[in-house]
Amino acid sequence: MLKVIAPGKLILSGEHAVVYGYPALAAAVDRYVHLIVKKNRSGLLVEPFQARGVVKSAIQKVHFSLKEKPNYNYSIKVHSTIPIGCGMGSSAAFAVALSASILKYSNKPWNAGLVNDLAYEIEKKYHGQPSGVDNTISTKGGYLWYRRESEKVKLFHQIEVRKKLGNLYIINSGKPKESTGEMVRLVRRLYEKRQLYVKNVFSEMEKVSRGFLRYLLGEKSNEIAGLIKENQKLLERLGVVSFSTKKLVKEIEKIGGAAKVSGAGGVKRSSGILLVFHRDYGKLSEFAQRHSLDVEKVVLGRRGLKVEKIN
Ligand code: MEV
Repeated sequence: MLKVIAPGKLILSGEHAVVYGYPALAAAVDRYVHLIVKKNRSGLLVEPFQARGVVKSAIQKVHFSLKEKPNYNYSIKVHSTIPIGCGMGSSAAFAVALSASILKYSNKPWNAGLVNDLAYEIEKKYHGQPSGVDNTISTKGGYLWYRRESEKVKLFHQIEVRKKLGNLYIINSGKPKESTGEMVRLVRRLYEKRQLYVKNVFSEMEKVSRGFLRYLLGEKSNEIAGLIKENQKLLERLGVVSFSTKKLVKEIEKIGGAAKVSGAGGVKRSSGILLVFHRDYGKLSEFAQRHSLDVEKVVLGRRGLKVEKIN
């Protein structure tokens, strides 16, 4: 029997821009997808049953990518502490954990790079044209400087952090109506109409990503709150933040904090998880209570995919 754990992620800066070859800085977080997997002779058994469809199509994709005949003889228990569909990489973490499980049971040699590639194929099935940052950070863990040069060339570097990020929390602005794929297509349409404008936003975004990088490397103590605010402004200019989320972010700023959408965002209703920085937890938690929101501490830079044999 296998126990497979893969973390979710938060993007510090570079979301959307990363789809177009600009860098992104992502971190694995302390929220996870857990799978318990064993061989099962009588076909596919999934717990909870509602996850069966997703699990089945992901297994099919993995076998197909491995050029094997699909084999569904598994019993799989799925448990997740990552909010689903809110920009924290829940689908990528699931894709990584599932790919790792199927590869372990196949007769192919174990290779974490191959797991990442298989997970990317599953991600494409859900999201159309993802950058691959979500599955890569979930596989590798830590902090990643990531750049997609082309479909076949994706460069990344794991950052050895000198200066830790603290006072970080998550507040859920609500599950977006749109999927990641829809949000990526929305930005694509804007890019096709107003290329200069969007390229300018992406270049500014790259400056923010570099600011975070310098902070983590201990080279320059850029103010984290300032970087978060700047990233959020750029995402608003891209049109991926809903009206209610913009309002919420402004209110967090008014009480001395900073907040940003992390991931694809959403416009019709809400924009998913907000990464929030505040020096005074008491103030933030009182604010959250007043607005009937949950505020949770989040730790960045956690380890990536872990596969254990258990009995
Ligand atoms: C990923 O969480 C968010 C986007 O940058 C899409 C991608 O990188 O695939 C919007």
